[in-house]
Amino acid sequence: MSMQYAPFLDAIPQDLVSASDYSRYAKEHLPQTIYEYVVGGGADEITLNRNRQKLDDILISPSLLQDCTNGGTNTVCMDEKFRHPILLAPVAFQQLAHPDGEIATAQAADLLETGMIVSTLSTKPLEDIAENLTQPKWFQLYFQQSHEFTLSLVRRAEKAGYTKLVVTVDAPLHGIRNRAQRAGFVLPEDISAANLKDRPPLPRQSFDASQSIVFQGMMSEVPTWDDIAWLRTQTTLPIILKGVLSVADALKAKQLGVAGVVVSNHGGRTLDCLPTSIEMLPLIRQAVGPEYPLIFDSGIERGTDVFKALALGANLVCLGRPQFYALAVAGALGVAHLLRILREELEVTMSLAGTPTIKDISSDSLI
Ligand code: FNR
Repeated sequence: MSMQYAPFLDAIPQDLVSASDYSRYAKEHLPQTIYEYVVGGGADEITLNRNRQKLDDILISPSLLQDCTNGGTNTVCMDEKFRHPILLAPVAFQQLAHPDGEIATAQAADLLETGMIVSTLSTKPLEDIAENLTQPKWFQLYFQQSHEFTLSLVRRAEKAGYTKLVVTVDAPLHGIRNRAQRAGFVLPEDISAANLKDRPPLPRQSFDASQSIVFQGMMSEVPTWDDIAWLRTQTTLPIILKGVLSVADALKAKQLGVAGVVVSNHGGRTLDCLPTSIEMLPLIRQAVGPEYPLIFDSGIERGTDVFKALALGANLVCLGRPQFYALAVAGALGVAHLLRILREELEVTMSLAGTPTIKDISSDSLI
């Protein structure tokens, strides 16, 4: 296929041809504790497993004998042009996978004309990552313990040229991560969140017997709808909420002037027994109307998955774990190869389904 990538291919093992192959190889390239931390989900992993099951249950209805010669994966979302609708989801601490961390991921994204959402918890400074990106670059914001420090991150993101703020709202605290606990995962001492280097120390908290470390402790610092409304008054960057899984929350976001939402269950890593994003996506699309930007993640591993999400109402989709695996196996080269695989799988799916452009993909494309 595309000649410009040909030199890469010699370096990639012959049996590494799909996103799930990267997962298989990553197991050999990562310390077991890190692999278990990344691959795992919340508690009994009911949501994690369901993410795949529900995507697999959907079947594509092909429309034959269509002229696809003018086809393409280009799309526009929130005034930004995308070469294809597959973005890199924010994934924290990428130096766990590779010494070059998010810089390597950004270089691969740029080469494959892929938008990237950079995590607050990146191991490289958000400015250094931005320098490597000419494609749409969005900054994922975790609210911090003070508005002042949260705002300092926003200002840095604005200055570095990020064009959207993706505020993650579904993970105010970790879910129950039994798999990572069993594996004994702790963040290695030499890995840290580069953007939070100057964060003021957290105040020491103490609790009496009537109080809960969850409610009065961790949850006392996390944002509410009022904080989202406040953030809107502080920046001209469009705000996207990540982690929305109900019609009510999607409608509330829209009413509040939030520019779009990411329908996501955080890859099954937060609350177990949440519904899958693919189950909620069509319901949310129906409620918010055809124009409201919806981004999808949780479970995408194939071009057919991308296609299914687009058919059910997503404008863009994001890849989480696969980018981490590809980075662990082969650094920037691995991520570039992964993105190329996904892009080509999407092109093949669109061609065989008889939907030559992104606009042609609709619920009619599914059984
Ligand atoms: C994540 N995710 C995540 N999300 C976020 O908003 N900020 C973050 O820093 C992280 N960090 C992170 C680390 C790791 C190791 C994983 C696996 C995931 C969630 C991520 O953006 C995305 O929602 C899911 O990964 C999507 O599911 P898949 O593609 O992994 O199935």
